[in-house]
Order: sequence, then structure tokens, then C-alpha cells
Amino acid sequence: MRKLLVTGAAGFIGSNFVHYWHQSNPEDRLVVLDALTYAGNRANLSACEGAGWYAFVQGSICDQGLVEGLLREHEIDTLVHFAAESHVDRSITGPDAFIETNIVGTHTLLKCAKKVWLDEGMQSEHLFHHVSTDEVYGTLGPWDPAFSESTPYAPNSPYAASKAASDHLVRSYHHTYGLNVTTSNCSNNYGPYHFPEKLIPLCLLNILMGESLPIYGDGKQIRDWLFVDDHARGIELIIRNGRRGETYNIGGNNEWANIDVVKLLCSIVDQRFADNPRLSGRFPDSPCASATPAGSLIAYVEDRPGHDTRYAINAEKIMTELGYQPVEDFESGLNKTVNWYLANEAWWQSILNGSTRS
Ligand SMILES: NC(=O)c1ccc[n+]([C@@H]2O[C@H](COP(=O)([O-])OP(=O)(O)OC[C@H]3O[C@@H](n4cnc5c(N)ncnc54)[C@H](O)[C@@H]3O)[C@@H](O)[C@H]2O)c1
Repeated sequence: MRKLLVTGAAGFIGSNFVHYWHQSNPEDRLVVLDALTYAGNRANLSACEGAGWYAFVQGSICDQGLVEGLLREHEIDTLVHFAAESHVDRSITGPDAFIETNIVGTHTLLKCAKKVWLDEGMQSEHLFHHVSTDEVYGTLGPWDPAFSESTPYAPNSPYAASKAASDHLVRSYHHTYGLNVTTSNCSNNYGPYHFPEKLIPLCLLNILMGESLPIYGDGKQIRDWLFVDDHARGIELIIRNGRRGETYNIGGNNEWANIDVVKLLCSIVDQRFADNPRLSGRFPDSPCASATPAGSLIAYVEDRPGHDTRYAINAEKIMTELGYQPVEDFESGLNKTVNWYLANEAWWQSILNGSTRS
């Protein structure tokens, strides 16, 4: 039985990870730590409340005393670190919070893990798994090979730079102090519980409410998209069998231009309204309610500064070493995502109304 501390577990990927992990490892115990910043939403974990295997702690990864206490009290052997400031646009308007949480916060966790696991000798079989992003590698031209684990770091936004710094700190604690660490660098995730300011949920909800679908620049920026449970599956494999001190790229082999993502989403929602006339009653402001294609809402807006043109992940290492394969293709994953948002209107309405922001 493992005892996990999951940071940032009330966020998009962290909460999906907690649900995924409990389903596949019901005997394990999970303590989750989240500061409930703007993206942290305790409602993402409401299904776990009261369960014996689960404990929620509201607090910051920058609070050394709190984190050390949790590691000791719950005899944590595995720390899975998702907590971050994660929105690139926000890192452009306010980078300070990204330095504080992503760099100082990660370093605080490393100090706590070293002190409790190594200096106090509490866990010989410990692991610090750090969740990072493919954005640390910078941007690719159309014909460049995809990012591999040996691609030099070249972050272009304050978000990517802060994640890059945290990756280096994690690596250094392995080489300097012998802390057992692994790192994963993942491509763009999508799926349930995705905060509505990100591309896919933003466009989906705007279609339902009849608002425009803002596309940066020409919409030709290419991203690799991975269904969030496939990310959790990759992290699980690394925690179980990944070589300590190593980094693994996790990707979906699923490159799409942003504009094509939005067009595919539009066609799925068009079809959903055609199949289910009750949706027109629920969302009368949507163009789909009057059989107008959702694509009519697409509106091109000024590009973001420093916008990377292409990310692509070479996930061969995790595939060959650990047998990783994503389960969802883009269409099946997007259909699941649309189903989840249609079935969970109360969740996203409360975020849009501001009632879950802190
Ligand atoms: N979203 C993606 O597509 C993607 C892709 C690759 C990697 N990642 C990485 O995955 C991780 C999770 O991303 P996400 O999309 O779920 O982000 P998110 O913003 O939805 O979740 C981040 C969580 O961290 C919490 N948090 C922020 N500051 C904190 C602090 N000081 N102490 C404790 N908790 C704090 C927030 O409350 C929130 O619940 C991040 O590290 C991100 O860099 C994300």
C-alpha cells in the first residue's frame, strides 16, 4: 500500500489523477494539498469527501512546516507534485506568482522531502514525482523532430521558464542529495474538470451560450493533445516502474492546429444538438439551437506575445521502457469531454458565476 501526498489535487489534472488513482489502486491512501487558488476547486474532489482513504488539506506548497508535518503524520512515501500557476496568459500579465509557486514552492517541497525522507530517514522507499510540461522545450518549426527527453530547454513564456527552473531543481536534488525523483513532461491535456478559461472548455461553453470563439492569430499553432486520464496512466507507470532520476515525455501522438481543434469541437456539438432536441431548450442562445453551425461563432483575435508555433512530443521512451499507450483518440476523448460538460452544468456555472473562486 502506498501513501501519497498529491499537491495541486483540486486543479484540473490533479483532481482527475486522484479519481484515476483511487479507481486503479483502491488500497492506497491519498492526502491532497491544495491552496484553492483561482483554478483550485474543492468541488472537483467532492466525490472523495468522507472516504477513509482520503484527506483534504487546504494550504500552500510554500509552507514548509505544513508540508513536513504532512509527510511525517501520514507517513507519506510518494509525493506527486501537480501544484502550479498554470495559465500562460496569466504568466504574461503577472509573472511573480509563477516564480513564487512554481519555483519557490517546488523547492520548498524538495527541502521537506529531503529533510523527512533522507535526513530523518523516515522512508527508504520514497519517490518525488514532478509533473511538468512540454513547454519547457520552447517551440518547433513545421518539420522539426518532436521534443524528446534530450531536447535542450528553451522556455519562451514566464510560465514555461518557471516550470523549467523547477525541473532543474528536482533533477539537482537527485544528483546532489540522492533523493528518488522522477519527472514527466506532458503535452496539452483536455477532459473533465478543465477550468473554463482554457481553449477546449472555453469554446465549448461559448458555443452553448452563443458567444464568440476567440482564436489567437491565424489559429495555426500546433499542439499535441492528450486525454487527461491518459496522462494519469503515464504518471502511474512512471511511479511504479520508472527509473529514478529519469524524465519521461508523455504525449498522445496527436498534433492538431488550434483552429482544427475548434472546428472538430464545433462539429461534435452540432451533431449533439441534432441528436438531442432537448439541448436547444437548455441552451437557447446557442446557434446550434436554431440549426446554425457552431463554427459561425469563430472570431480571430490578436495573437498572444511570444506565442509558440508548434509543440510535439516524442513519447517513445515511456512507450518502449514502460509499455505506455494512450487509450483515447482525439474524437473519443473530445466526445467524453463534451458529455461530461453537458452532464455537469452546475460545476461550470458555479465557476462562471465566480462562486468557486477564492
Ligand atoms: N494543463 C495542461 O495541459 C498541462 C500540460 C502539461 C503539464 N501540466 C502541469 O500539470 C500541473 C497541473 O496543471 P493543471 O492544468 O491541472 O493546473 P490547474 O491550474 O488546474 O491546477 C493547479 C492547482 O494547483 C493549486 N495551487 C496553486 N498554487 C498553489 C500553492 N502555492 N500551494 C498549493 N496548491 C497550489 C491550484 O489551487 C490548483 O488547484 C501543473 O504543474 C502544470 O504545469 C499541465
